[in-house]
Amino acid sequence: MDLRTILNSFGAHEDYRQIILDFNDFIKLYEMALLELRSDIEIIELEWQTRYEYSPFEHVKTRMKTPQSLQRKIERKGVPFTIEGIKENIFDIVGVRIVTSFEDDVYKIYELLKRRDDLKIRRVKDYINNPKPSGYKSLHLIVETELILSEGSVWVPAEIQIRTLAMDFFASTEHKLQYKYNTKELSQDIKDELYEVALASSRLDEKMTQVRNTILID
Ligand code: GTP
Ligand code: MG
Repeated sequence: MDLRTILNSFGAHEDYRQIILDFNDFIKLYEMALLELRSDIEIIELEWQTRYEYSPFEHVKTRMKTPQSLQRKIERKGVPFTIEGIKENIFDIVGVRIVTSFEDDVYKIYELLKRRDDLKIRRVKDYINNPKPSGYKSLHLIVETELILSEGSVWVPAEIQIRTLAMDFFASTEHKLQYKYNTKELSQDIKDELYEVALASSRLDEKMTQVRNTILID
C-alpha cells in the first residue's frame, strides 16, 4: 500500500496529505545523502588501507534523526514547522560519527574531507581544543554533500562528528546517563564526577599517543 492510500484510508484532509507527501520526498533527499556519505567514507577507508596498510578509522556509524527527535528539536529551537524552516535550521538530520584510535587521526580525516569537491564544509566546531563545560570532546563538521540526481546536482546538509575511542566512550556513556535522568538536571556533584571521567579519557588518549610515538621512533 502506498502512502497516499494509507492517508486516504485514515481520511486525512487534502492539505495535510500534501504536506506529508512533500515531507516524505524531502526526507528521501537526506536518506540519499546518508548513503552518499557512507559510501564516500568507506572508499576513503579502503583506499587508505590499500595504500598504507593502516587506517585512521576505528569505526563509523551513521544515523537518520528520528521523526520524534526532529520534532523535539524544531520545538526547542522555535524553527518554523515547514520544509524551508527545517532545511535552513536543522543540519543534523543526517549524522555520521567517525571514531578514530588517535587524536591526530581526527584532524587527518578532517584534512581529507576538506580536499573533496563533493563536500562543502559549512561550519567547524572544535570541541577537542575547546571542550564543552561537561568535558565533552569531539570535532563537529556541518557539511553539505553533493547528490547527483537525474535533474542535476543538489547539496544536502549533514553533521559529521569525528572523535577518538576514548572521547566516544565518554560521550556515549554520559549521554546515556543524561537520558536516564530524563528531564531532571544532573546535580553539580554528578557533573563534577563526569568531568573527572572526561579528564581521565583525555589522559588515555595522551598516553596512547605517547606509546605510539615511542613505537614509531624505535
Ligand atoms: P544540538 O541542538 O543538540 O544539535 O546542539 P548544537 O546545535 O548546539 O550543536 P553541538 O555541536 O553543540 O552539539 C551537537 C551534538 O553533539 C549533540 O546533539 C550531541 O550528540 C553532541 N553533544 C554536544 N554536547 C555534548 C555533551 O556535553 N555530552 C554529550 N554526550 N554529547 C554532546
Ligand atoms: Mg545535534
